[in-house]
Amino acid sequence: MSQTYRPNSLDAFWMPFTPNRAFKADPRMIIRAEGMHYFTPDGRAVLDGTAGLWCVAAGHAQPKITEAIQRAAAELDYATNLNMGHPSAFEFANRLADLMPDRLDRIVYTNSGSESADSALKIALAYQRARGKPGKYRLIGRERGYHGVNFGGISVGGIARNRMGFGPMVGGVDHLPHTHDITRNAFTRGQPKHGVEYADALERLVALHDASTIAAVIVEPVAGSAGVLVPPQGYLRRLRELCTKHDILLIFDEVITGFGRLGAPFGSHYFGVKPDLLTMAKAINNATVPMGAVAASREIHDTIIAASDTPIEFFHGYTMSGHPLACAAGLATLEVFREQNLFERAHQLAPYWEDALHSLRSARHVIDVRNLGLIGGIELEPRSGKPTQRALDTFRKCFERGVFIRVTGDIIALSPPLIIEKAQVDQIVETLRDVLKAID
Ligand SMILES: Cc1ncc(COP(=O)(O)O)c(C=O)c1O
Repeated sequence: MSQTYRPNSLDAFWMPFTPNRAFKADPRMIIRAEGMHYFTPDGRAVLDGTAGLWCVAAGHAQPKITEAIQRAAAELDYATNLNMGHPSAFEFANRLADLMPDRLDRIVYTNSGSESADSALKIALAYQRARGKPGKYRLIGRERGYHGVNFGGISVGGIARNRMGFGPMVGGVDHLPHTHDITRNAFTRGQPKHGVEYADALERLVALHDASTIAAVIVEPVAGSAGVLVPPQGYLRRLRELCTKHDILLIFDEVITGFGRLGAPFGSHYFGVKPDLLTMAKAINNATVPMGAVAASREIHDTIIAASDTPIEFFHGYTMSGHPLACAAGLATLEVFREQNLFERAHQLAPYWEDALHSLRSARHVIDVRNLGLIGGIELEPRSGKPTQRALDTFRKCFERGVFIRVTGDIIALSPPLIIEKAQVDQIVETLRDVLKAID
């Protein structure tokens, strides 16, 4: 046995986006999950207020999904989709295509949201080249945008900490301003009234760089990781109009807004705005097996395929693209969404969710409450000279009191499974209220 083997040591696992030293000094462990709850080693139930990480939309351990994965593993553990195919990858792509906005029905598989973002950016560049416009190479992201952690994603993304320290990034990138405007929009229910004009910044970037150099704009319909930033009324429509006017592709990163989070299949449906490329991951198979995807418009797909002068039309893909277990889980997940009518359920519950969240307006430390669909954002006044500490304390105390929340900066981001009951909404809100009262 290796000398370094230490049973139960927490040392070897370098944890993602986690204060490793603090966690390992005071770990929070989870060993089981079911429905709306996680369970700790001592058997304590913790209500999941964030669907894992915006991903377990149908709730934990849905039997139909578990069984589908078990069956798939026994039948076909792995097959490449390079020069060979297996039925579930085609079938799942067809089902995903059925869910997409009209003609956004060509599906590229990935294994995560980060890979989906980078794949979408590469498809956008390949499309511009295929149609004879290789000079359209610039990619426009947005301040406070999050598109995962790969180089494309952090380049177009707008979170300083995720970018600094990693070199010069992908070239030819610029950013729109974020839309967060707490002085005008604090405590808005649903989409804020003010801020449609933030989309007009694209005109300035066009004036600066010229549209003939810009390939695509990428935004999250609702920015999640940078703290639940709900788009102002009319903003996404304006952005669509400007992209169309200047012959620029619009990419929606729907990694968190997809699969019913807003009470509609995708944000695109909810806002009535159609992108040219749409990325997804997370809830695609209820987060049971790592998977993501990009939906491309037929026009983009057909142009790239037709322009190719090599047998392989697009030099991109992963060993695990369309993994049999992930596809089987995805097919079962879509059935669960349909059978349990979960998108409609989220839509029905959204007003109750909104009322409950906004009752925190008067809670201690709260400077803003935002919501859309089954998403909630509660912004706390940062502790003087110690940003994020108040939110981290809130997170820890909520966990101790049996509620799992997510914090990003000094913002609490909530996104429960779509199966949540009203009493559980109340439990999240009342726990938060009590914790905020108790902490400094
Ligand atoms: C909008 C968006 N894009 C991309 C990602 C990255 O996904 P992943 O962590 O699966 O790579 C996330 C993750 O939270 C996200 O919210």
